[in-house]
Amino acid sequence: MTAVAFSAGAANPPAAGGPDPDSALNILLWIVVPYVAITVFVVGHYWRYRYDKFGWTTRSSQLYERPLLRLGSPLFHFGILLVALGHVGGLLVPASWTDAVGISEGAYHAVAFGLGTVAGLAAVAGAAILVYRRRTVGPVFSATTRNDKAMYALLVATMLLGLGTTVLGNLTGHPHDYRETVSPWLRSVLMLQPDTELILAAPIGFRLHVLAAWALFAFWPFTRLVHVFSAPLGYLTRPYVVYRSRDEQLGTRPPRRGWERPRRPRQQVGR
Ligand code: HEM
Repeated sequence: MTAVAFSAGAANPPAAGGPDPDSALNILLWIVVPYVAITVFVVGHYWRYRYDKFGWTTRSSQLYERPLLRLGSPLFHFGILLVALGHVGGLLVPASWTDAVGISEGAYHAVAFGLGTVAGLAAVAGAAILVYRRRTVGPVFSATTRNDKAMYALLVATMLLGLGTTVLGNLTGHPHDYRETVSPWLRSVLMLQPDTELILAAPIGFRLHVLAAWALFAFWPFTRLVHVFSAPLGYLTRPYVVYRSRDEQLGTRPPRRGWERPRRPRQQVGR
């Protein structure tokens, strides 16, 4: 399970007597779990779309409360969008590519850490406001299902593990270079040549973060998170909605003969 064609290789190879990359547990956690999660994510979305199209919704609670939503929602959504973009860059783009275009390791990590931390903090702060709102605003709490609570718990745990490990590593002066471990491992999984040795060289915080993320991905199709994959495209081409006034007289000019509005039966009775 360790033969993978990545030039990056493991920067922090497991010490002699370290974890066995071919043990049953490590194969389960770092090969079986990712593929099961990816399959459930893809097939689950297809199933949900086929059989629960009308349940494909955010189940918006905007009608019940606005001020907290107006603050928490953009904070969370913009934060998590930036985090997602950072993940695509940091996990899928090999370090050799950024080196090739002249971005030094130091510059890459300074920008990634700065932007990633700001984005992660915004997402966590937004999520904290949204969870507080769900718990304290009566009608919003009533509209919160057990499925919602489990989803929020997994989402927040994933974010806290990612942010916590990143910030702690930098604060203690031992930032971990995930582009030598987590990133090539994820690419090895996506290229169907999983290399467990790479992920085993990452700190426990990142390994827990990744396991929480797989759990979240497997749960995703069965939650309100499906709304991420909806776009109101039909809105662009739908016909106009025609609004008609109920006023007796339209505008200031009296209607031309023959163009008077029909009267409702009740009004005619009164005459
Ligand atoms: C298999 C999927 C995932 C992998 C391999 C992964 C890996 C990583 C890595 C390596 C970092 C450190 C980045 C850095 O130090 O700059 C990180 C940070 C972080 N991750 Fe993930 N992650 C995954 C999924 C997720 C998901 C689904 C979420 C959100 C729910 C998330 C939220 C975060 C946050 C908030 C941070 C800290 C801020 C940041 O660096 O952007 N991650 N993750």
